[in-house]
Amino acid sequence: MAGQASKSSAIPGWYADGLEHIWLPYAQMKTVPPPLPVVRTYGARIMLADGRELIDGIASWWTACHGYNHSHIRQAVEAQLARVPHVMFGGLVHEQALTLARRLASLLPGDLRRVFFSDSGSVAVEVAMKMAVQYWINTGKPKKTKFVAFKHSYHGDTQGAMSVTDPAIGIHDVFREAYPHHTIIDIGREPEPDLTSLARFLERQAGEYAGIIVEPLVQGAGGMIFRSEKLLRSLRQLADGADQILIFDEIFTGFGRTGTLFAYEQAGTSPDVITLSKALTGGTLPLAATVATRKVFDAFWSDDPKTALMHGPTYMANALACAAANASLDLFEREPRMRQVADISIALERGLAPCRDLPRVKEVRVKGAIGAVELDRIDDLDRLRARFVEQGVFVRPIGNIIYLTPAFTISSDELTTLTGTIVKTVRELKQ
Ligand SMILES: Cc1ncc(COP(=O)(O)O)c(C=O)c1O
Repeated sequence: MAGQASKSSAIPGWYADGLEHIWLPYAQMKTVPPPLPVVRTYGARIMLADGRELIDGIASWWTACHGYNHSHIRQAVEAQLARVPHVMFGGLVHEQALTLARRLASLLPGDLRRVFFSDSGSVAVEVAMKMAVQYWINTGKPKKTKFVAFKHSYHGDTQGAMSVTDPAIGIHDVFREAYPHHTIIDIGREPEPDLTSLARFLERQAGEYAGIIVEPLVQGAGGMIFRSEKLLRSLRQLADGADQILIFDEIFTGFGRTGTLFAYEQAGTSPDVITLSKALTGGTLPLAATVATRKVFDAFWSDDPKTALMHGPTYMANALACAAANASLDLFEREPRMRQVADISIALERGLAPCRDLPRVKEVRVKGAIGAVELDRIDDLDRLRARFVEQGVFVRPIGNIIYLTPAFTISSDELTTLTGTIVKTVRELKQ
């Protein structure tokens, strides 16, 4: 791929020269199509080096919820850059991190009170898993080290996060023998999942298991699969009955995506630990948080240094990222984000509905600002992605799913273009 890049007036020098040295994500480097050089972003738009402008349907892996380059976030980051860009978090703290911790604790329903910052969603999941395992070590049950996760789950690419991701979604299959084996339970695709086998399993094995990890309401990277609120309530009951730490991974669903600020609000229950990232900074800087209840935190609170949580990423609580996150929370307070999500939901439902009549379509589903068209198969993912770009939109299907997760600030015309292009493109697909 890199060797194919040629210099022309539309291709900037940095692109052709640098491509030889870059290793791209989730990509067979020999065959991956050349990535698109981006020179500017604004609102829901991505501008390419050759002058083309794409309407973004993905919001940069679900992060840019306020659109790109929101002036309020930019000003907050610029002001912070002049004051304190970063200080180590060992022995030092700063206003942005403590303010953000307080704000997150007050926004999260339930008793989630203690915020541990890190720099990516995967690491937030690692921290959640370490909290769960050490909770049991600190409370005298050191054999409880394993986790239950679910078919179609995705929790990240680091070792622990991979080990609770369903290997069948195909991302980490190659590493199957190289990481610890946890238990991936299949609860089917019915709206009301049958948890009897999980209940029986926990009756027998709870003594070896530290916790249950689940993506509330929507399994994202595993195929935009929607789950019921009841599942979360049932898992809460099971976790309580079988001494399990219940982890909600809201890295995708958090900050409005499903129609409420956090997806689990819709279930009227709460976890012991939650993980947050992606839209936390409005898509500007990397930051993640693992938030624990008082019950979990109290198990680490003692005079014995051995019961402390031994984790501390160099860039944890980065001040620029925390400033961006505080500014992003301001926007949720000041601007009508939840109303925008509700409007997007209606527009996605209306705009994608014609897909239901197309032969290759198995299902069209919409929740909050997520719209998914499930096809029977996608024969050539790269070709399909390129076809969207040719039509001026950035849409990146995964597996057999074409989906939209736009910025909440996207205009109704832009959204109509996105849904219309999907309908047209699905209509073009061969039987
Ligand atoms: C639910 C969920 N958990 C964890 C992650 C991993 O986050 P990151 O890519 O920031 O490591 C993702 C990323 O897509 C995710 O969707």
